[in-house]
Amino acid sequence: MAEYEKFQHDVLVIGSGGAGLRAAIEASATGVTVGVVSKSLLGKAHTVMAEGGVAAALANVDNRDDWKVHFTDTMRGGQYLNNWRMAELHAKEAPDRVRELEAWGALFDRTKDGKILQRNFGGHKFPRLAHVGDRTGLEMIRTLQDHGIHQGIDFYQEYTVISLLKEDGRVTGAFAYDREKGRFKVFQAKAIIIATGGMGKIYKITSNSWECTGGGISLAYHAGAELLDMEFIQFHPTGMVWPPSVRGLLITEGVRGEGGVLRNSEGNRFMFDDVPDLYRHQTSDNEEEGWKYTQGDPNAKRPPELLTRDHVARCIYREVKEGRGSPHGGVFLDIAWIKEKISNAPEHIKRKLPSMYHQFKELAGIDITQEPMEVGPTTHYIMGGIKVDPDSQMTAMPGLFAAGECAVGLHGANRLGGNSLSDLLVFGKRAGEFAAKFAQENNQAPIPEQQLEQEAKWALAPFERGQTEENAFHIQGELQEMMQDLVGIVRTEEGLGDAVNRIAGYWERAEKIGSGGNREFDPGWHTALDLKHMLTVAESIARAAKERKESRGGHYRQDYVEKSDEYGKVNISVRKADDGSMEVKQVVKDPIREDLQQIIEELG
Ligand code: FUM
Repeated sequence: MAEYEKFQHDVLVIGSGGAGLRAAIEASATGVTVGVVSKSLLGKAHTVMAEGGVAAALANVDNRDDWKVHFTDTMRGGQYLNNWRMAELHAKEAPDRVRELEAWGALFDRTKDGKILQRNFGGHKFPRLAHVGDRTGLEMIRTLQDHGIHQGIDFYQEYTVISLLKEDGRVTGAFAYDREKGRFKVFQAKAIIIATGGMGKIYKITSNSWECTGGGISLAYHAGAELLDMEFIQFHPTGMVWPPSVRGLLITEGVRGEGGVLRNSEGNRFMFDDVPDLYRHQTSDNEEEGWKYTQGDPNAKRPPELLTRDHVARCIYREVKEGRGSPHGGVFLDIAWIKEKISNAPEHIKRKLPSMYHQFKELAGIDITQEPMEVGPTTHYIMGGIKVDPDSQMTAMPGLFAAGECAVGLHGANRLGGNSLSDLLVFGKRAGEFAAKFAQENNQAPIPEQQLEQEAKWALAPFERGQTEENAFHIQGELQEMMQDLVGIVRTEEGLGDAVNRIAGYWERAEKIGSGGNREFDPGWHTALDLKHMLTVAESIARAAKERKESRGGHYRQDYVEKSDEYGKVNISVRKADDGSMEVKQVVKDPIREDLQQIIEELG
């Protein structure tokens, strides 16, 4: 039996983004020992890409806001497929989580009377996004790191988890390797929290960085956990389209929140052309009223650019497809126009959107205070993920928890901007609290030695095969192209069937990847191991999307363009069957609690 370096913690957190850090802080505050395993370096999490703000009904800018309105907005934005209990907890607890962050030293922009400033975002009825310029996620990560570092938490940076270890149906640890030397490591833990974020890197155009390959979702699936809602992918409407090296890089929704408008090549504000029924009563039909709304007029209706992301992304897609796009295949996002309204517009834009100003100046040679940006949809977020108990965040597997983007429930069919940062604070805290409790009440189960041997053998197989014709980067590249084309913004039965077949082919080819190199500093080997996660997640998205024969939120079927009442009552569940195949089925949702339904009816 091989000897591996072993580490033991009461609670092991996999992932060091906002959810992972918040969970680790909460767990360690109870006195249990906590380890955080991070595939990358601290500070690199996708959390930093939630730039425009954290959504919480603080009511600092509009005192009509409260948890009930936030709850209603979240449910409507998710097209009522959300887990209503999570939406309730989130709306109620987000304000306290933001104030707590402030107490830990987070900086926020301020109202004139010194309160945390809040801005408008798509689908939120009132200005609700607490922010610091366009660097809110970054500030949040900085604050959580600064706070967490003094809690006695052990951090393992640049370690990748290969699989979860299981004994008698319970998770007992994780098998990992350090990316630098390629040596295997064994983590024993009484409770494990998966907080690995999303999977944007299985698509060609994405705001996500290399780490986001769906690892945690896949780890949980292979360990036996259930996935839900995998068909719902958020294509953020505004990513960079030019130059090609930065295609997909995020342009915060904060640009539109500050008055930015979308135009096609004919100069038309095309978002006025198509306003969904669900939002018609809140959306202005003229430019002046929309502008007043962004300036905080409580009686004005919102501009159509602040409709939900799923809808805005589809409208941009339509403009480009119908030949009214910008030179590089996007549309124009214009914030410079506000100089017609504000005397110090360039300074105002630089103060409100400093990162956007620098991003365009440095990367595209565009001065956004003077010229419009070219923008197009970019894969940003997955609404689906690991099924958890809404209160404790524990999966159906004892001791296994999940929080943040990799967990499912809060967002339904479409997430509202800013709800990701509040999600990870609210449910990261809850996961940490309940995982610590589980660890205090349960003993450490033994590590299954036989599983370790099998996993090690599987991971080293590319070296055993030696140099072959199959290359992990080629398969990854083909997967990304294919997902973009067949499982992207617009989907069809035929395309999804084709996608499932092609993924089966990639699985076969992945089994043949060989490496003539060695375990140290070997990105080809890392990608070969990561392919298992990417293919698992891609297959679950394609299969779930094929199963849902309607259009809703982040899932649009060209062959079923309408929403269906029938599908509105079910989630699509994905599970690993006993024979290793992927089992997909519809599961009926729990009916919403009556008092919450009443709130929706009153405020919706
Ligand atoms: O546009 C943005 O600033 C992104 C925010 C989010 O995804 O929540």
